[in-house]
Amino acid sequence: MLILTFIFLGTTIVSDCWRSYQCLGTEGFRHLTVNHSLTFVDPDTGAHTQNIERLWRDVRGGIPRYGRREAHMSGYLAEFLFKRAVPRTHLIHEFMRAAADLYPPSPVPIGEDPEEPVAGPSSAP
Ligand SMILES: *[C@@H]1O[C@H](CO)[C@@H](O)[C@H](O)[C@H]1NC(C)=O
Repeated sequence: MLILTFIFLGTTIVSDCWRSYQCLGTEGFRHLTVNHSLTFVDPDTGAHTQNIERLWRDVRGGIPRYGRREAHMSGYLAEFLFKRAVPRTHLIHEFMRAAADLYPPSPVPIGEDPEEPVAGPSSAP
């Protein structure tokens, strides 16, 4: 079960009343439910799934409908998180900065490294 693999025991999990989640309360999690047939916010606990459903809708909206690749899923998620964390007006700047962190620029312009052997008449074979 994915939840047992990835979620710390003791975590509060809020779900709709989907049957597969019924066991969560006995598996070591605090399980709050909201019955969507009755309401969207549980009147006793305040539990709701509005925020997470909105978040996933936004995540799915950033994943291409066609040409989508399983292997790119972490990339789609990273792009979503990046765009969410960086103000729209700074996206290009921050993208270039992140790219430069990942691939630091050469300290010496290519072709101007004094240690680099210079091809010339004397070094020609
Ligand atoms: C949710 O509410 C509906 C309508 O009252 C009810 O029929 C259903 O059994 C409830 N589901 C759960 C899991 O309590």
